Amino acid sequence: MPRRLEPLRDPVKLHFDGRAIVAERGEPAAVSLLAAGHLAIARSPKFHRPRGPACLRAACDGCLARVDDVPNVMTCRVPAADGMRIETQNVVGSVDTDLLRMSDWFFPEGMNHHELFAGVPGVQQVMQALARRVAGLGRLPAGEIEPPREAHRRQVDALVVGAGPAGMNTALLLVKQARRVEVVDDALVWGGSARALPGEAAGPWSALIEAFSNAVVMGDLRLRMRTTAAAIFGEDVLLAGEEGLELATPGTLVIATGAHDGVLPFEGNDLPGILSARAAGWIASLGVELGERVVVVLADGGGPFGEACASVIRGATLVKGTPLRAGGSSRVKEVTVATASGEQTLRCDALVVDAPRAPAYELAAQAGATLAHEPRGFVVHTDEAGRVRGRVYAVGEVTGTALHPAAMARAAAAAVESLAPPAAP
Ligand code: FES
Repeated sequence: MPRRLEPLRDPVKLHFDGRAIVAERGEPAAVSLLAAGHLAIARSPKFHRPRGPACLRAACDGCLARVDDVPNVMTCRVPAADGMRIETQNVVGSVDTDLLRMSDWFFPEGMNHHELFAGVPGVQQVMQALARRVAGLGRLPAGEIEPPREAHRRQVDALVVGAGPAGMNTALLLVKQARRVEVVDDALVWGGSARALPGEAAGPWSALIEAFSNAVVMGDLRLRMRTTAAAIFGEDVLLAGEEGLELATPGTLVIATGAHDGVLPFEGNDLPGILSARAAGWIASLGVELGERVVVVLADGGGPFGEACASVIRGATLVKGTPLRAGGSSRVKEVTVATASGEQTLRCDALVVDAPRAPAYELAAQAGATLAHEPRGFVVHTDEAGRVRGRVYAVGEVTGTALHPAAMARAAAAAVESLAPPAAP
């Protein structure tokens, strides 16, 4: 069972399906649920297989729930707050015992719910209603419909997308050049991967974290969290955040979107309790232990999160190899790994997988970047200074730069040194 290693500093009370949970204010609500022992939070839309948080970065559907009457909220992206009501959705019964799970057992070869009993009078209507229930996701909010908010346009001197290691480095250098810098990131907290390295592995990043923190506190730059750079249209960037939609036209655009967690294809890889190593690292750095028997699998090309996790999780077993299958029904109970010395099956109550990460290339591709396909995914190609085109740059893991403090600093310096003076306003 997961548990907290430290007393809460600023406790708040949430409600998960009516049960009270005490959590740390501001931490991701998904982490609050995990820390309280709720590994399964959601159900898959069609077969109702149990799902749990796997990425903590809005990239899986394992943490979807209804939050304060709003459906389909990624609970890894909302901060725990007093009185928050989190409800499971898309279940008949409870998230632990969802009767619609039967669809998985009755149709082991898969099911086309659109055509099931189609054309059979009477039965067809019943099946349509059931299909909607089986495949739907959430109910509309009961309250007032929010009126559309107007989008507005504005100029930005230097816009950095991503507040991880590459974004922080570049933003700090731009500030030194007296640029008016704005940093946006869709996460809850800034720092990106640098915050997901617990224990001694965090040390090499502490100077960067401190420098960026000081810059934010001193107002040297503008930082907007929970703000998504949703698209690029020519010279404009569509930003979506709590304040609504904006079309920003930056003088310089730096794409520092980092990398997606690697996901390996093995049987049972969607069981609750299986997490990416970066997610597990962040959870560990928030003082939550994932389980009593945690297995960390370090796949070829993975790192550095798995080893960092294994060094701080009590009794964790680190295995180098490739997961072949995970067993369990409502949560992971064991994993079989192909290692250099043969197959190994290990009992576990949490499985952490450290697989090669894939560059988060999508925004750079919209900006016109050239992509190269590698086994881990698409890597953004730039010139030596990190330029994609004109005043658009891509820096950091998105271009294949190693997640290493010196490498990140060098990449940021190359980009900022090559910048021409900003365009006249
Ligand atoms: S989307 Fe929230 S944990 Fe993956």
